Amino acid sequence: MFTNQAVLVTGACGGIGRAISKKFAQLGADLALADIDAGALSDFAASLEEQGASVNIVAGDLADRDYCNQLPEKTHMLFDRLDIIINNAGLMRRGAITHTSDEDYALSMMINVEAPFRICRSAIPIMAAAGGGKIVNIASCWGLYPGPDHLIYCTTKAAVAAMTRCLGRDHACHNIRVNAVCPNEVDTPMLRTGFEIRGLDPDQAKSQLDETVPLGRIAAPDEIANVVSYLASDESSYVCGALIEVNGAKPVY
Ligand SMILES: NC(=O)c1ccc[n+]([C@@H]2O[C@H](COP(=O)([O-])OP(=O)(O)OC[C@H]3O[C@@H](n4cnc5c(N)ncnc54)[C@H](O)[C@@H]3O)[C@@H](O)[C@H]2O)c1
Repeated sequence: MFTNQAVLVTGACGGIGRAISKKFAQLGADLALADIDAGALSDFAASLEEQGASVNIVAGDLADRDYCNQLPEKTHMLFDRLDIIINNAGLMRRGAITHTSDEDYALSMMINVEAPFRICRSAIPIMAAAGGGKIVNIASCWGLYPGPDHLIYCTTKAAVAAMTRCLGRDHACHNIRVNAVCPNEVDTPMLRTGFEIRGLDPDQAKSQLDETVPLGRIAAPDEIANVVSYLASDESSYVCGALIEVNGAKPVY
């Protein structure tokens, strides 16, 4: 489905990032994988290459503005094209506003909002010149509705959602479709570290969380990757500026 298409995935070593990268690899894409964890990225890329995937790594810290600005061009140089960008990397700082430090605010805004802003700003002229492209942002249901005690995280994801809708509107004329996937809870290290911070057993806490979802379980990373690949494919050719909630019918609050 994605043969000869170049895809940049950020946060490629995380729970959802790995699932997205594997999915695109299985569907024949040329992958540029980005993450701050260069060692894990190289091991992960090697495992995909063993299965026949075409992979390059572009490791770096999304807090580095130059790195963000250059990622689309780097991908373009690696494959001589840039078809798809998945802005997946993100971090979660927890707590109400009175427990949110200046550092929590600055880092969350930088990684969750400014980095995708910079990547999109650099990518759009490249994609427009090539006749189009697709960008999929990973927002969250916790940016569309008020999630309890996650003030800065919800604020950043609301910004990603607004950015997605605006970019979808502004660049449809360039044949660039920008959409976002908004998961609720997904079984990844991000979720499990939250359990550990609260002193809970991650497996037990996950089972309890499963019971709160009308569909009977929180999402597996693959179930998010499937929606991402749909939005990046021609199957979604008329979906543009959309926020797709993937939540097993569970409301945020
Ligand atoms: N897990 C969930 O329940 C859930 C729900 C809704 C939305 N999301 C969103 O999905 C995306 C992926 O989340 P995940 O659950 O896979 O998280 P994760 O913590 O497993 O992975 C996040 C990845 O981002 C990378 N990253 C973090 N800071 C970085 C930086 N400064 N520079 C470069 N890379 C950096 C990490 O190294 C990691 O590989 C995030 O945007 C998250 O907000 C997750």
